[in-house]
Amino acid sequence: MKTLNRYISAALFLFATLTVAGQEVKLPNDYLSNEFHKGRREALRAKMPANSVAVFFANPVRNRANDVDYIYHQDPNFYYLTGYKEPHSVLLIFKENQKADEGKDYNEIIFVQPRNARAEMWTGRRLGDKGVQDKLAFAQAFNNTEFAAYNLDFASFDKVLFYDFHNDVRDTRVVGDLYDLIVQFKQKVNYPGEGVAINVEPEKQNLDTETLNTYMVELRGIKTPEELALLRKAVDISTIGQVEVMKAMQPGLSETEIQGIHEFVFKKYQSEYEGYPSIVGAGHNGCILHYIENNNPAISNTELVLMDLGAEYHGYTADVTRTIPSNGKFSPEQKKIYDLVYEAQEAAIQASKPGVTFREISKIARDIINEGLVELGVTDSASQRHLYYPHGLSHHIGLDVHDKGSYDVLEENMVITIEPGIYIPSNSDCDKKWWNIAVRIEDDILITADGFELLSHLAPRTSDEIEEVMKQESVLNQFILPDLKD
Ligand code: GLY
Ligand code: MN
Ligand code: MN
Repeated sequence: MKTLNRYISAALFLFATLTVAGQEVKLPNDYLSNEFHKGRREALRAKMPANSVAVFFANPVRNRANDVDYIYHQDPNFYYLTGYKEPHSVLLIFKENQKADEGKDYNEIIFVQPRNARAEMWTGRRLGDKGVQDKLAFAQAFNNTEFAAYNLDFASFDKVLFYDFHNDVRDTRVVGDLYDLIVQFKQKVNYPGEGVAINVEPEKQNLDTETLNTYMVELRGIKTPEELALLRKAVDISTIGQVEVMKAMQPGLSETEIQGIHEFVFKKYQSEYEGYPSIVGAGHNGCILHYIENNNPAISNTELVLMDLGAEYHGYTADVTRTIPSNGKFSPEQKKIYDLVYEAQEAAIQASKPGVTFREISKIARDIINEGLVELGVTDSASQRHLYYPHGLSHHIGLDVHDKGSYDVLEENMVITIEPGIYIPSNSDCDKKWWNIAVRIEDDILITADGFELLSHLAPRTSDEIEEVMKQESVLNQFILPDLKD
């Protein structure tokens, strides 16, 4: 029996090696190009000071439970600079050329997880060092098992730039994993021991864990044409999802099912993930800003449903919110609050252009909301402090939903959200006719040379337009599944 098992396992190993090696891999053809990633590395290099090296680590694999990990997601900086989607990797970018042992010049080097037929049979294809050379066009790509012996005198640099470490990196006990790479790096740079602040010892002054982020903020905050193409697609997908849900919405649906319709549309368009956990909150649940349970089994006839979802397409995520009445018609109070949020949003959008500050557009929206709440009798004075609009107006989107970018002045090719909201939980200090009304309207705009472009235009935004779209038939009404037995 033992011999037979050994025979079967050898045969499986051979099968895995042959199939993984020999497969024609069918993939989408609109990923970011190697030229994009190389260009971003060059742009970073141009910002780095003389005689410096920047070091980036891949994201850790995170455990969900027992032997199941969360779906792996690359660190956005790492992806931006490399296109590499696998874990257990480290990237070094040098300001000046370095000499390889064989005499060749190089100014960047990556160490990646090795090919392994047995592992690939279980968890999927890997590029390995050769694949990274061929497919991602890195001249200097090695397996991560070679990082320990990589001979580089980090003390000779004026600056070693890196992000300080996550504290959730597991030791997988596979040689060369992220855990090992970090331990090896710390040894190579004489990283101070636990509890010792870095940059305090004079001889360690070349370790800098602050500055790299300022460079990445400058780079990632301004989108290139390739990034814009993917962002447009992510936003289109998300807004089409909103339209389909508007058509399908009816009392009795569960929040989970509504979430499922959005996410089905995302998948229909080959969107890999949601850019953040989807938020679908009916009635009071809409007042919980990051409500992600989405477990109300049957929304009622008179509730507003707040839906904040973003498709992630090839790494880039949209962030779009629509708030709609479950029965297709806003009540008078719901409409008044909705229209006030719309007015604030529209004014902030129209004011958005290069040179205007984030602070200015935020104030425009906040003033309209504060004055409007007084007019409606929800609050007593526009200067009254309240929690009905407790969050900011805007943030960058990109590889992160709250993307890196400056929050000073709007600049051409920034992509940002404009997302005012009003949330009035039950038992608020106002007439109870307003209770449980929660409205957020969130759109994504591109800052252009002289103004803005509304990227999320496919999803209706005014209360009238929403009611019109909600009158349309949904094909999902025909999608009737059998009841489950109790
Ligand atoms: N979806 C998270 C946000 O709107 O910022
Ligand atoms: Mn947002
Ligand atoms: Mn959002």
